[in-house]
Amino acid sequence: MIDTFTELDALRERVRSWKRDGLRVAFVPTMGNLHDGHFSLVKLARTHADRVVASVFVNPTQFGPNEDFARYPRTPDADARGLEAAGCDALWLPSVEAMYPYGVEATVRVQVPNVTATLEGASRPGHFDGVATVVSRLFNQVQPDVAVFGRKDYQQLAVVRYMVRDLAFPIEIVGADIVREANGLAMSSRNQYLSADERAQAAQISRCLAAMADAVRAGEPREAVEAGASQRLVEAGFDPDYAVLRRPDLTVPATGETGSMVALIAARLGRTRLIDNLEFTA
Ligand code: PAF
Repeated sequence: MIDTFTELDALRERVRSWKRDGLRVAFVPTMGNLHDGHFSLVKLARTHADRVVASVFVNPTQFGPNEDFARYPRTPDADARGLEAAGCDALWLPSVEAMYPYGVEATVRVQVPNVTATLEGASRPGHFDGVATVVSRLFNQVQPDVAVFGRKDYQQLAVVRYMVRDLAFPIEIVGADIVREANGLAMSSRNQYLSADERAQAAQISRCLAAMADAVRAGEPREAVEAGASQRLVEAGFDPDYAVLRRPDLTVPATGETGSMVALIAARLGRTRLIDNLEFTA
């Protein structure tokens, strides 16, 4: 069985003992309900360190008032089994009280500017403050040398990088490639809400991202590429929130149409909101 920690002192002692032995420690934060995408983060973490700690914590501060924190799927037994099979050494399972000793309302909040105002931040106000708030605590609790985040949540990764640099956390941040189903659909806990037909249809998002990259490389201007992608998504039965081209740090639109870029899409299919992205060079 994987070593599971619910007390911070015990977790810290374990990590300290590894470090005394000269071992490098990697960390994979999660909210549970784990799938192969998460397990790939653990496997990648193993390649960057000698020991891997994962956390499962459904973080109340990153849910909006209309997002159902209470109904977020919790699958602790399957998560523990999957983490162990993926090569994780320790599982950190903090309680809400341990994470927020002053209570959720009275907690010290970490607010990351610039990179949080657009895209997911625009449609989920306060979401990234909650993410930065909990990730900063998790970093202080686990004290890893390296932490792994999926590139699927591209803006989240940008927020974490910004925070780590600005607050001088001595932690290397590694972005893990998106894991996709055979049809190209990016793996996500939300895919479980899709019907079989919707799952097939959802693959259009990754095709649309590839078409955006091709169009940029073919010299189409940014505005035309973005408008064309939105139109294509509507025709394929989606309700798009955005289909945009940005520079990799997300702070500016991808003007100039050459160099490193990322295409990002958020779109609803039925009642499920899906996000995906593609990094490319033009
Ligand atoms: O990506 C997630 O699952 C969460 O946002 C994270 C990073 C674990 C913080 O709660």
